[in-house]
Amino acid sequence: MADRLDNGARQAQLDFLARCNQAFTPFAPIDLPEFFAGRIGHVDRLISEIEAPGRHVAIFGERGVGKTSLAKLAYFFLRKDEDDTHFISCTRASTFDTLMTDVLASAGVEAVLDGLEAEGQRQATLGGPNLGGTFGASRRIKKTYRRLSAGPQITPRLLLQQFGGKDGLIVIDEYDRVEDEETHTRIAELIKAFSDAAAKTKIIVVGVADTLAQLIGEHASLSRSLAQIKLDRMSDDELRDIIKRGCAHLDVDFPDAIATRITRLADGFPYFVHLLCRHACHRAPITWFRSPTKRRLITEFEYQSGLRDAIDNVEHSLEEHYENSVITTRRRSDVFSLLLGALALSNERDVQVQDLVANMSWLGGTPLKKPSAYSFHLGQLIGERRGKVFTKVRDGYYKFTNPLMRPYVRFRLELENWRTRDGQMQFPFMQPTPSSSVR
Ligand SMILES: Nc1ncnc2c1ncn2[C@@H]1O[C@H](COP(=O)(O)OP(=O)(O)O)[C@@H](O)[C@H]1O
Ligand SMILES: [Mg+2]
Repeated sequence: MADRLDNGARQAQLDFLARCNQAFTPFAPIDLPEFFAGRIGHVDRLISEIEAPGRHVAIFGERGVGKTSLAKLAYFFLRKDEDDTHFISCTRASTFDTLMTDVLASAGVEAVLDGLEAEGQRQATLGGPNLGGTFGASRRIKKTYRRLSAGPQITPRLLLQQFGGKDGLIVIDEYDRVEDEETHTRIAELIKAFSDAAAKTKIIVVGVADTLAQLIGEHASLSRSLAQIKLDRMSDDELRDIIKRGCAHLDVDFPDAIATRITRLADGFPYFVHLLCRHACHRAPITWFRSPTKRRLITEFEYQSGLRDAIDNVEHSLEEHYENSVITTRRRSDVFSLLLGALALSNERDVQVQDLVANMSWLGGTPLKKPSAYSFHLGQLIGERRGKVFTKVRDGYYKFTNPLMRPYVRFRLELENWRTRDGQMQFPFMQPTPSSSVR
């Protein structure tokens, strides 16, 4: 009897973990509308721009803010047919012809360039690295190709013939990876041509960049035809919406105080909310599943062990970068890790060296030193050998080169706080902010 009960509980636990993998996806873009949180203003903008004849869209912003997720669900928000949506991802080797060969392939057209099998030239990854879910382009590649002789290269004209009359979407993700200069010019020409011809298929170009010019270069002709949608980090309310949606799917509750901590730690990056929530839920005790009616409430235990697991399972490159920047060959020195902590502690992104030093003394419980005592270390942290973990913004000001480093270091500070001080340290960044001012 007990055995059967435990089998039942085990099955319920496995079901729960499977649902957890759907709800909290640190390593994959969102591809189900049910899990797409926040971004209401951006979605509205996307709809109104795409619905305007002759307008196409560029989506850009920092790494990890949710560009691919918005791009993957664009077809849904815009009510376009999935079959007429062609989603491709770029690689460093992509050229205009390889990209458009992929777009055509997704539409069931095999473009043959100068008598060559186009297949041999394909280098981009259809659908991106994170297929799965309901929306991988490769799933939709039609088995029966229509062959088309494209001449020496694929022209806007040929693409207009294929897509101009269809109410579809061409989404080009990870466009920042493209290194070939000519591709930028040809993409700009393509957008211009689609715009002038009032093509019904719209183009969305997506990539990491601060500005539109950084993403696709300076093309004066694009100012009328290409709308810019810049994705910023998410607000605390939007991050909380991720937790709320996950909770609804899992029938779990995060107490308000813990949800606040998670959103504060994540520093605007949805990745960290997914990572921590996923690991907190993975720590759910078996007792939750013995009685189906038991209320499932995340406690300090799940939060703290989830935090540790999140740090252990963070994106490898971040961990490596961190370790590389604090390691010393001489006797163990905490100065580097303290400096990283001190930078992460500040509410400002660009931190003045006096504040850094004050933060160090607060964190380490040590007497305040002169900034000059750390000149050597700061010089190291902006240098090649420590992976340029810091950037000197201007004289006397420093920031993390990789914006994801700040939340990662904050995760570490928070874990240490619970491990050694029972959560007694009051980090300023953990204070809830009014929803309008995220940082
Ligand atoms: N609107 C959103 N709602 C919930 N989670 C999101 C949202 N946007 C992004 N994410 C999550 O954030 C992480 C990074 O998203 P992604 O779209 O890959 O960002 P980017 O393309 O800007 O690097 C992923 O774990 C993804 O699931
Ligand atoms: Mg992306």
